[in-house]
Amino acid sequence: MPDLQKAAKRAAGEQVASMITSGMKLGLGTGSTAAMAIEALGVRIQKEGLQVCGVPTSFASERLARECGIPLTTLDQTPVLDLAFDGADEVDKNFIVIKGRGAAQTREKIVAAQAKRFVILIDEGKLVDKLGTRMPLPVEIVPMAATPVMNVLIALGARPEIRMGLRKDGPVVSDQGLWILDAMFNEITDPEHVNRVLLNTPGVVDHGLFIDMVTDVLIGLSDGSVRTMARR
Ligand code: A5P
Repeated sequence: MPDLQKAAKRAAGEQVASMITSGMKLGLGTGSTAAMAIEALGVRIQKEGLQVCGVPTSFASERLARECGIPLTTLDQTPVLDLAFDGADEVDKNFIVIKGRGAAQTREKIVAAQAKRFVILIDEGKLVDKLGTRMPLPVEIVPMAATPVMNVLIALGARPEIRMGLRKDGPVVSDQGLWILDAMFNEITDPEHVNRVLLNTPGVVDHGLFIDMVTDVLIGLSDGSVRTMARR
């Protein structure tokens, strides 16, 4: 990752860590930007004795949080969260986001849905005028449904592909033991329609469009400052 982009992600991560107060129950996102927030939170726990607990959104964030000394919990033990933070692949002006480059979008959405505040952490490059123009939409599926779901995505105007493993033969297997389809659109003009169709398709577990969930977007800039978009 280029140094300037890293600085921007770190700025957003540190900013959300600075918003956390003792007693908060948190959702811990996945990806390189959320990882910087987890690390910054770990530093505050160590230095200030901050008392928090967090629900991780992936095996990756669980391992990192443990390394950083963040007490972990589950949605069974802690079903209501004060704040969840996470990265994103695209964010539009209506606070709709696409997530899932790291294949964690299903758990990320479950955790975000339980949070009073859902804070997205990005660098400027993730802001888009039109959704679906930079990154594919990840769709998590039961493997036997691959072809039927791909046909639904094609009918929606997308070019779907099964996400393949790197340093692993065959498809990427999610933390749930399922597959991911990456659906490249020219543009997602009607996210609500795509959401409805996908959630009504047997074999689709969930997808990376997050609609009506985000409360704040922290945009890290390469000079280390942060711009905030808050939804009213
Ligand atoms: C994980 O599956 C994703 O939803 C990430 O949160 C998202 O792709 C952003 O990742 P980065 O912060 O690494 O860009």
